[in-house]
Amino acid sequence: MDLKETLLKYGFHFESDTDTEVIPKLAKFVHDSLNEDLGSDGGDKQLEGAYALIFKSPYYPNELVACKRGSPLLLGVKETGDMRTDINVESDLSAEGHHGKPKEYYLASDANAIVEHTRRVLVIEDNEVVHMKDGAVHIFKSDSDKSRRLLRPASVQRGLSTLEMEVEQIRKGNFEHFMQKEIHEQPDSLTMTMRGRLIRGGEQKAKGILLGGLKDHLKTMRRSRRILFIGCGTSYNAALAARPVVEELSGIPVTMEIASDLLDRQGPIYREDTAIFVSQSGETADTLQALEYAKSNGALCVGITNTVGSAIARGTHCGIHLNAGCEIGVASTKAYTSQIAVIVMLALALGDDSLSTQQRPNAIMDNLYNLPSKVRDVLKLDKDMKELAALLMDEQSLLVFGRGYNYATALECALKVKEVSLMHAEGIVAGEMKHGPLALVDETLPIIVIATRDASLNKQQSVIQQLKARKGRLIVMCTEGDAEFMCPDRTCRIIEVPKVHDCLQPIINIVPLQLLAYHLTVFRGFNVDQPRNLAKSVTTQ
Ligand code: UD1
Ligand code: MG
Repeated sequence: MDLKETLLKYGFHFESDTDTEVIPKLAKFVHDSLNEDLGSDGGDKQLEGAYALIFKSPYYPNELVACKRGSPLLLGVKETGDMRTDINVESDLSAEGHHGKPKEYYLASDANAIVEHTRRVLVIEDNEVVHMKDGAVHIFKSDSDKSRRLLRPASVQRGLSTLEMEVEQIRKGNFEHFMQKEIHEQPDSLTMTMRGRLIRGGEQKAKGILLGGLKDHLKTMRRSRRILFIGCGTSYNAALAARPVVEELSGIPVTMEIASDLLDRQGPIYREDTAIFVSQSGETADTLQALEYAKSNGALCVGITNTVGSAIARGTHCGIHLNAGCEIGVASTKAYTSQIAVIVMLALALGDDSLSTQQRPNAIMDNLYNLPSKVRDVLKLDKDMKELAALLMDEQSLLVFGRGYNYATALECALKVKEVSLMHAEGIVAGEMKHGPLALVDETLPIIVIATRDASLNKQQSVIQQLKARKGRLIVMCTEGDAEFMCPDRTCRIIEVPKVHDCLQPIINIVPLQLLAYHLTVFRGFNVDQPRNLAKSVTTQ
């Protein structure tokens, strides 16, 4: 906002509300001030947040500048026909190599994008600037985070990595497993999901929602008689987590369908229905077949997928891409939280044209705005979750009770624990406790109760009391500061999480439980990223 205000003062015009647009305009401004000696209060300002940028300008033909902070950036180097394996940075980055062969350079945010062209990459670090000119590359480094002075780097001595066997490792960064990396990426993946869609007003407040893919269809959706969410596994759980807020803000009845079950029943679908298909890969076979079925019945079909160009994205009338970044671990984590965030934004968009005049939608938007930093906070529970996993690793079974907004959190926690740690786990809607599950409770079976503050708090308290009365072995997830109040006799293990708006709480609450599933798997010695018998996208029925 600061930068934008400065640029507006200097006569720049903006076509969008995205923060991305500020960057090229800032570059133009800096260029003009340096060349025309405008004096520059804008020149002192720095970009904040995470980014990876490539600049190309008509002022500097045949040149290219790239830099990054927080977000990943790789430089790939390919020398045609060159089979050498030992690499010297100096000669690799000059226009011609040992053999005088021309070079090709690649810039990418993800090694996936370039491995097919070259396996030799330099991982660009924060505060480094890549400059390509006349076919050669130079890398500069600023001497500190604050300083903008660029030093010519004898300092970038590290060699190119050869991706060969390390391709996995490079893609994993500092993490042991993709699942772990993806759990920890969630502040960024959520930021990417909301970028350009959560429109900011002044004073760090949000003022509206813009879902480009839906804008011509929102009217039809608002008029529909029913919204159906259709998905499988984690995608189904994400829709379930966001269902209450869709019902609340749209006033339209929402039903949930597991894709295969809808097909088995050939459940009725009408022209007046909006059918929303949720799938990370966009290729899930059952969901895809349910899409064909719903389309042939005349429903408006909306996709929510992480994969541009996927079958579901192509087959739906309209939709929303998650923009959560590539998810590699078979157990979905960052796609789950982005799916919930997208559906909450959809609920807001469905709610009203004049969102900013209403209190509740406004509170949700402000909370969306702060969500990535709250997720960063809750990730600090990693050590606690590892400790808890060490305590639980030899158990046979785990129960998870949730309700309301966190019914889905219970299901999703159990699904994560099952699919990666291969421990039996069951997510149960707490209202059903007395209708069967209570019979299982004894002093050995571990039970997680999700009891963060919302309208169901009292009911969850009474669930805790009843489980305690049966000597249940309780792990209670509660809002920060509530430990004493939720478990005065201190017989429960507590997971305290930050408070966000009720409808966003499932995004916060699942994070420590993802970490628990992850650490359980490592302790139990199973394959985290490729669980037994499972595939990343289930493209067969
Ligand atoms: C789009 C661009 C994004 C750009 C932004 C700025 C794409 C993929 N997205 O994002 O790069 O920064 O505009 O204006 O080019 N769709 C489906 N089914 C699905 C998902 C999407 O039909 O399951 C359709 C949408 O209706 C839309 C298109 O695909 O027509 C792109 O969707 P999305 O990426 O969500 O749109 P924007 O966020 O506007
Ligand atoms: Mg489409």
